[in-house]
Amino acid sequence: MPILETHEISVRFGGHMAVNGVSLTVGEGEIAGLIGPNGAGKTTTFNVITGLQAPTRGTVRLDGDDITKVSAHQRARGGIARTFQRLELFGSLTVRDNVRTAAELRGSDPERVTDELLERVGLTAVAHQRADSLSTGSARLVELARALACRPRVLLLDEPASGLDDGETDRFAEILLDLTTDGLGILLVEHDVPLVMRLCAQITVLNFGEVLATGTPIEIQKNPEVVDAYLGQDPGAPG
Ligand SMILES: Nc1ncnc2c1ncn2[C@@H]1O[C@H](COP(=O)(O)OP(=O)(O)OP(=O)(O)O)[C@@H](O)[C@H]1O
Ligand SMILES: [Mg+2]
Repeated sequence: MPILETHEISVRFGGHMAVNGVSLTVGEGEIAGLIGPNGAGKTTTFNVITGLQAPTRGTVRLDGDDITKVSAHQRARGGIARTFQRLELFGSLTVRDNVRTAAELRGSDPERVTDELLERVGLTAVAHQRADSLSTGSARLVELARALACRPRVLLLDEPASGLDDGETDRFAEILLDLTTDGLGILLVEHDVPLVMRLCAQITVLNFGEVLATGTPIEIQKNPEVVDAYLGQDPGAPG
């Protein structure tokens, strides 16, 4: 059974279907990709999964349980964590305090949890720097550590490699792969297509709110409709 499953979720904003019948799954220890052009509905799909946006129809399941009506807070407690497309850090706090505030929300021994997480994402050396003094690459890692502090079973990452240089992207990829060895499921929204192809077992392509294709990286790369709608464009364009 997948950890996370959406079944035909739709979101209508006025007369506009931002998401239209989207079904996807994320398995234990799996990195699943969610890609598509700007405005395709990726972030809105994340908002439905995390409970920030009620779907017009469709269901969200966590470990087989229907959580469509469950609050965002309860979903976070149940094991769904996310990062945001725009960095949402406390700039005047240190790296360590940014992570610790998240660890405190989740309960026991936040000091130890914080130290472990900083080590795991490679931020120990900058733990006492202010968050607003960091490179984008390090700031994204703080955000990742904050999300991990909730001890998620599934992690939703919204364009985590945006603004990273090649070295930072490689390091980020290795950290994600390492996290999956503990069974963490990851749903990755990212315009860095080579990164998605390298990390993801299954990829879902959205276009105008609908699933255009689902498949392995090889299947997606040779799908003519996907090439037409997205891969043949400039997928590196910032979102
Ligand atoms: N709160 C909202 N109210 C009205 N329309 C919205 C709202 N949020 C998103 N939309 C619209 O829904 C569509 C999907 O937006 P969404 O942000 O999910 O796209 P995206 O795939 O994440 O794009 P990007 O790659 O640019 O981040 C867009 O047409 C967007 O303008
Ligand atoms: Mg988005």
